[in-house]
Amino acid sequence: MSPGASERRLIFALDVASRSEAEALVATLHPSVGFFKVGLELFVSEGPDLVRWLVRKGLDVFLDLKLYDIPATMRRSVAAASRLGARFITIHDTGAGAAAAREGKTGSRLQVLCVTLLTSVDARDLGASVGLGSGGRFRDLEDYVGWRARTAVSNGCDGLICSGQNVRRLRRELGPGPLLVCPGIRLGGDRLDDQKRVVTPFRAVRDGADYLVVGRPIRDAADPLAQARKIVSEMDRGLQAR
Ligand code: C5P
Repeated sequence: MSPGASERRLIFALDVASRSEAEALVATLHPSVGFFKVGLELFVSEGPDLVRWLVRKGLDVFLDLKLYDIPATMRRSVAAASRLGARFITIHDTGAGAAAAREGKTGSRLQVLCVTLLTSVDARDLGASVGLGSGGRFRDLEDYVGWRARTAVSNGCDGLICSGQNVRRLRRELGPGPLLVCPGIRLGGDRLDDQKRVVTPFRAVRDGADYLVVGRPIRDAADPLAQARKIVSEMDRGLQAR
């Protein structure tokens, strides 16, 4: 991330149900924010027209659909997303589905990001489903996240969705290549909502994150634009502290 680039590295999650709410938030935040995430709620409600509208406005779009399906469906869905003009799309599969997603985006500027582990899941939740610690396949949560990250990257993913808590180690293990995109961002004193593995914008960027995804702390703020600007300035400080 180059100095002064923080505005373009903050991705606002348009977690609303209607086009009118999305348009109002874009009007409030642009041009301080130029990258917008369309997730399941908005995509299911408003469909690809909303994505085309954002792209026509010259905004970057992160299509957060967290795809997980058979390889043929992954390839074709990612190809469809690339025709829409999205910059990022998320998938859940680290293996054959990731390789198929890579094929689907061929020739476009779309970048495929694999979810390592939802930031609403912590070691306790994961231990119950995967098996961590002595006798388990993975030593701890970071070990599991590292395994998913390495597998996804070796199958052609351009980057990873991860908690800011994992960034330092992933950057060390994977080098400068893969994009590291972090949700679960909270300023000191913010409500956690359903997130469990949160960090501040300062820490995530200082430790090596390329992009931060922020939703409720901006959407629900009394002054969303002021809140976005505060986050951008923390990101700038994090960059300087690298
Ligand atoms: O409101 P908040 O800032 O917690 O929103 C985080 C956004 O990032 C949500 O849109 C959520 O769907 C998304 N996300 C996440 N954890 C992941 C992947 C995506 O929170 N691992």
